[in-house]
Amino acid sequence: MANVKFYESSNSVPLEMHKVRIVQKLNLLPVDERVKAVNEAGNNTFLMQNKDVFLDMLTDSGVNAMSDMQLSSMMVADDSYAGSATFTKLESKIQEIFGKKYFLPAHQGRACEHLLAKIFVNEGDIVPMNYHFTTTKAHILLQGGKVLELYYPEALKIESDHPFKGNMSPELLKEAINKYGVKKIPFVRMEAGTNLIGGQPFSMENLKEIRKICNENGILLVLDASLLSDNLYFIKTREEEYKDAEIKDITREMCDQVDIIYFSARKLGHARGGGFCTSDHDVYLKIRELIPVYEGFLTYGGMSVREIEAIAVGLDETMDYNMINQGPEFIQYMVNELKMRGIPVVTPAGGLGCHLDALQFASHIPQSEYPAGSLGAAMFIAGGIRGMERGTLSEEREADGSEHFSNMELLRLALPRRVFTLSQVKYAIDRISWLYENRELIGGLKFVEEPKILRFFLGRLAPVSDWQQKLAEKFKEDFGDGL
Ligand code: F0G
Repeated sequence: MANVKFYESSNSVPLEMHKVRIVQKLNLLPVDERVKAVNEAGNNTFLMQNKDVFLDMLTDSGVNAMSDMQLSSMMVADDSYAGSATFTKLESKIQEIFGKKYFLPAHQGRACEHLLAKIFVNEGDIVPMNYHFTTTKAHILLQGGKVLELYYPEALKIESDHPFKGNMSPELLKEAINKYGVKKIPFVRMEAGTNLIGGQPFSMENLKEIRKICNENGILLVLDASLLSDNLYFIKTREEEYKDAEIKDITREMCDQVDIIYFSARKLGHARGGGFCTSDHDVYLKIRELIPVYEGFLTYGGMSVREIEAIAVGLDETMDYNMINQGPEFIQYMVNELKMRGIPVVTPAGGLGCHLDALQFASHIPQSEYPAGSLGAAMFIAGGIRGMERGTLSEEREADGSEHFSNMELLRLALPRRVFTLSQVKYAIDRISWLYENRELIGGLKFVEEPKILRFFLGRLAPVSDWQQKLAEKFKEDFGDGL
């Protein structure tokens, strides 16, 4: 919140610096129907119908609340196929905010990853990064490359007070360059607000160290800026040197460190789309060549022009501290409340959402039975809350078909920005507490249909026993006829 102080300091809560003007009706199914709905969806929250979901905490992707200014901007979109004034508006906004010469549009974040991998990654290449993201890794693997994660051990500690768990280790990067040689390293990737380890940021200091090493070795540095807004907030609030800095100045300083920026505008800019920017003319030409082949003409890149208008406004709004603090402060509130109840949750609170540690929450479920996926199904039964598995299910199998057990087994409960009210967050905390009290009732899952690539999106699973019926029975015992 802005610098608002409460008279009764014990009542201090995250305060919304916006008001709600358009709403969507919600429905909370009775518990038996929740069991039915989650099974019809193959115990995969991606396959659930939104009509069955009470709190949709699956993701923040494309579902952040838009502002009145964004919605009104959509009405003036210029839909000319070529030479659209709408595109020029976004291009200028990107040049102004990121300080890069060129902007190239793409339909969403993974489209950028596809083209980056296609252009730069060859068979046997290694791409060092602070941590992988699912779609990033899939594209690099499809090109025959490998991902090398160079995080500090702190990154994987569930409970920590390290402010920047998303940092990359410069020592490990130097070692990797010595081991593989610069020719095998097409680029180094830094992901803002590192998604899969709990929305954890990197520091400006760390980014500068990595830049220095890339400079010394002539390696391109790529920033995945999809979760930039949270990372900006954490640099301002956790890195002493930046506490009085303007968000727009922190942004520019970050962007100055990197050669290529790409982003999902389903996250950054609160609309739907994506794109790249760079000041490197050669890089620009290489990417530009493929945009009309895979994405669309250069002045829309697969995006709707209405969304392009909304991204331009959304990026401007992202430079407002009172806008970007809303997500992290609600998450901080939720994390503090859960911690007080002894519930295992990733700390310090990150961006994007609140991350429950399924390895502790459901410690009796072996990784081969997908504890985070199981917790996701149980959470839906407990409260009609849809989260996202970020653990072994979200990994790819090894080449020999064996499981690749994930470093962390997290259930992510995303807080799409400016969407949920504090009472809804309190409801979620209540249902998580109930589930934690009854955690021994949660059982594992097994695949009944398993796709080869990105199996977490479309795979179907079944419970290994009748644990879901038992959980529902306990719910009815405790809540009576209450939902
Ligand atoms: N990079 C990061 C860090 C992301 O979080 C995402 C998407 C992408 C790239 C891909 O962008 O969805 O526009 O193609 N993350 C979403 C999520 C899907 O729910 O975490 P996209």
